[in-house]
Amino acid sequence: MYEESADRLVTAAADGEDQAVEAALRPKLLDEFIGQERVREQLSLVLQAARKRGSAPDHVLLSGPPGLGKTTLSMIIAAELGAPIRITSGPAIQHAGDLAAILSSLTEGEVLFLDEIHRMSRPAEEMLYMAMEDFRVDVIVGKGPGATAIPLELPPFTLVGATTRAGLLPPPLRDRFGFTGHMEFYAPVELQRVVHRSATLLDVEIDPAGAAEIAGRSRGTPRIANRLLRRVRDYAQVRHDGVVTAEIAGQALDVYEVDARGLDRLDRAVLDALLRLFGGGPVGLSTLAVAVGEEAETVEEVAEPFLVREGLLARTPRGRIATAAAWQHLGLTPPVQTPPVQTTRGSVPPQPELFPADGS
Ligand SMILES: Nc1ncnc2c1ncn2[C@@H]1O[C@H](COP(=O)(O)OP(=O)(O)OP(=O)(O)O)[C@@H](O)[C@H]1O
Ligand SMILES: [Mg+2]
Repeated sequence: MYEESADRLVTAAADGEDQAVEAALRPKLLDEFIGQERVREQLSLVLQAARKRGSAPDHVLLSGPPGLGKTTLSMIIAAELGAPIRITSGPAIQHAGDLAAILSSLTEGEVLFLDEIHRMSRPAEEMLYMAMEDFRVDVIVGKGPGATAIPLELPPFTLVGATTRAGLLPPPLRDRFGFTGHMEFYAPVELQRVVHRSATLLDVEIDPAGAAEIAGRSRGTPRIANRLLRRVRDYAQVRHDGVVTAEIAGQALDVYEVDARGLDRLDRAVLDALLRLFGGGPVGLSTLAVAVGEEAETVEEVAEPFLVREGLLARTPRGRIATAAAWQHLGLTPPVQTPPVQTTRGSVPPQPELFPADGS
């Protein structure tokens, strides 16, 4: 899959700076976690019931786009259970033996967080099935015909898996999770609370309208909201007195070319070409890509998903088309649509008039 370039201000993927500051901004308990009401309520029931029974809760799968709080929630699960957490990821587990080593060193009730679980190797995945279901693994000792499987009992533990691509998980793995939380994009009011909370933690003075301005440009994603807040803070401190108002936030994000709806330079270039050069489409992806001077892959995987999500662009079998909202967003007037001419053979598109209608 195409990896989004990390230098994009509105990418949902974490860059180095995000990783450095995210630990400080992560809510630690379920009550501090903003939004995701449904997942939060469901999870809180699962955790409370486990605590009441005094046993480890069912395995939990968290699925959803990057930057919505999966890692944060996994840490909250451990904190709420008062249990230690072990953190690893699918790509880090190359061989079944790597997983066996981790599993066999778990203590009772420990939370094992397996990030990007869809990227685990096949043999490791099969070992995980047994570990999740029976708390047992077969450790293979030796090689070739002399190899023997030694069964190893595991203490009860809770696996928390996270994935941005739930569809890629093999069904046997998906079925072994007792609870799946689907994370959704955040509403602007929720993001406004995220921005406000982070500003307090970063010691940034912000008014509600300033927080709302940043939230509106954050593409429903807390990680982006936190990143935009840091850029706005810089601007406010360098050019002004450090206080973030709606006006300051708007000016700062204009400098960084993130518009009122969270579109960046690339998104706008794609939309602009589609509207101005191709009259709103339909136009093929490769043509559109050439027009903006980008690879087709970049247009398709970096710019389009958000444009589609926002209802600004649609992918059709005949090519990309712009919606009415796209014309409006760029402040352009769509060409007047002449209704198709009705004939006995069905409708045909209006033809340019080559000859005067009176036949002279
Ligand atoms: N509900 C929330 N309330 C407050 N802050 C949040 C919330 N969700 C996420 N965040 C913030 O957003 C940042 C990114 O969250 P997190 O790392 O948990 O995302 P993720 O879903 O694990 O992303 P990825 O798929 O890239 O691993 C965190 O630093 C955290 O501060
Ligand atoms: Mg994560």
